[in-house]
Amino acid sequence: MSIIADDNNSKEGKRNPIIKAEAAEFDKNFENSIRPKTFDAYIGQSALKETLKISIEAAKKRGQPLDHLLFYGPPGLGKTTLAGVIAGQMDVDIKITSAPALERPRDIIGILMSLKGGEILFIDEIHRLNKVAEEILYPAMEDFILDMTTGKSHTVKTMRIPLPKFTLIGATTKAGELSGPLRDRFGIVHRLEFYTEDELSKVIERTAGILNIDIDTKGALAIARRSRGTPRIANRLVKRVSDFALVKYDGKITENIANESLDILKIDEFGLDNTDRTLLKLIIEKYDGGPVGIETIAAAIGEDVRTLEDVCEPFLLQAGLLQRTPRGRKVSPETYRHLGYKNIQNIQQQNLF
Ligand code: ADE
Repeated sequence: MSIIADDNNSKEGKRNPIIKAEAAEFDKNFENSIRPKTFDAYIGQSALKETLKISIEAAKKRGQPLDHLLFYGPPGLGKTTLAGVIAGQMDVDIKITSAPALERPRDIIGILMSLKGGEILFIDEIHRLNKVAEEILYPAMEDFILDMTTGKSHTVKTMRIPLPKFTLIGATTKAGELSGPLRDRFGIVHRLEFYTEDELSKVIERTAGILNIDIDTKGALAIARRSRGTPRIANRLVKRVSDFALVKYDGKITENIANESLDILKIDEFGLDNTDRTLLKLIIEKYDGGPVGIETIAAAIGEDVRTLEDVCEPFLLQAGLLQRTPRGRKVSPETYRHLGYKNIQNIQQQNLF
């Protein structure tokens, strides 16, 4: 199985080519080096793994490609990794791209025409696919046909080009933003869940093993507790904590060293970072606990709405620290307690913001 990434011409890449490309490249290389390649090595999402194993087995018995699959859920939970594992189990190649890279019709046409029988096409952030690309995908997904038009007005010609049978795996953080017709064309739809502390501990110990990082069980659990249920965060934190352990101590990550290092990184015992705390404190201190619109919050703290919605909010919502209402976001009594407000009625005078 080989993995071919095809996202060099993403919009973000064009806007800020150097910084984006370098940061993205570094993250990708790091993530690729520790990605599990088999279901056995892939920790967590056990119910999902079991159903996928059955679907794969059935597809193999029929001698057919797997049905098109849609994975949704917060970022960093392993959607791309899982697609790679599936390709490995099916023993086929996978081509990886993301919707913002499929800006022009020729982008999606090119990638569809490059597919070989049985291969997997992985499209990340599929909710961001434009209308034209979607229209090209429908017959490709349903009948493995590429409908192409050439020429203009009265000279327009349509061609129907057969494609080899392939499997599309779409991934999205926002299943609700996917158009109905596109969602309906996925035979299998699965939500990825946040990981338990136990599962994250195992992910951390596995990653530490690959990277030759010395860590004990309690050290792994201490990092897991502050990783927001997300393996991508756990893997980044284990590296940061390892740097700290190496520079300040003898290199081994223990519970105390992990906690000291994460305190310095300003990641609290819930896993909240500065942005999360600023967001929650803003709602509490300037908007009396909410509700307040996400655009107002984003403008006040200088963050992008999409980053808040896709990256910060999913964990805060699931941790019960933030609620979404038709009139905007509000916090819960637990949020006040967690951030150290003693008297909810009197917070303006405490001036903690
Ligand atoms: N690294 C990132 N996600 C992982 C997972 N689910 N299992 C093992 N290692 C991982």
